[in-house]
Amino acid sequence: MVSLQLTDLGAAYRGHKVFAEISTPALQGGQLVALLGPNGAGKSTLFRRIFGLLSGPGQIRIEGATAARPIAYMPQDNGARPVLSVYESILLARMQGRRLKVLPEDHAEVERVLNLLSITHLRGHNVGDLSGGQRQMVNAAQALAQQPQILLMDEPTSALDLSRQIDLMSLLHRLTREQGLLIIVAMHDLGHALRFADAAMVVNRGRMVACGPTHGVVTANLLREVFEVEARVEPCSKGTPQLVVEGRAAQPA
Ligand SMILES: Nc1ncnc2c1ncn2[C@@H]1O[C@H](COP(=O)(O)OP(=O)(O)OP(=O)(O)O)[C@@H](O)[C@H]1O
Ligand SMILES: [Mg+2]
Repeated sequence: MVSLQLTDLGAAYRGHKVFAEISTPALQGGQLVALLGPNGAGKSTLFRRIFGLLSGPGQIRIEGATAARPIAYMPQDNGARPVLSVYESILLARMQGRRLKVLPEDHAEVERVLNLLSITHLRGHNVGDLSGGQRQMVNAAQALAQQPQILLMDEPTSALDLSRQIDLMSLLHRLTREQGLLIIVAMHDLGHALRFADAAMVVNRGRMVACGPTHGVVTANLLREVFEVEARVEPCSKGTPQLVVEGRAAQPA
């Protein structure tokens, strides 16, 4: 099983430090991890640092990887080339850094992810003509088509309608179980984190402030201190934990 461990990781843009000393235990394949934190906390930057788009201090240790490129990354805004068709854009994403010759198995993989995400009907559409949510589904397909063992997804459901949010999160959860993937999802929907994530890591003010099983991490205290809301986690009538938000926390004087 693949695992990913971060030790004292840091990142900066042109000398301006975003975060420092981010460490985690070895995050094991077979689980979905939520990456949480307020706007500007450094979630996207942490993904860029892990994926190797940014350099900086610290170590990223990957063990148990069998693929040549074990990590795939779905950026928050991927600036997809609008002139390509959906099919071509997924195929191109799959071919990144690999041989130039497209094999039958590459086409088969594109078909598989189109099916998996229920976007087969979009295959011939121009990426530039898609709605925001449709484009986000295509971005997810581009990442999945690389058949990663570790998948970093930056707010993959932010533009999706509610049923598609649930479909995508359920699919990701299923892939962790069936294929042993480690999937880390940056998200703002703490309800989804509580429902779908095995573990949560929280970044705030340049530090990792919590990392562990989701229900131990997403607590009233954390919601007040990191997200500045008065809220609590309570089981609904069916027993599923829900986030009940009362309002903004009082600002410290
Ligand atoms: N390319 C860049 N150049 C300079 N500063 C950047 C760059 N990208 C991000 N930053 C800064 O780094 C900090 C962290 O940004 P980042 O995008 O990682 O936050 P985030 O947690 O992903 O936020 P959000 O929830 O809004 O997506 C912010 O202060 C941001 O302004
Ligand atoms: Mg971000």
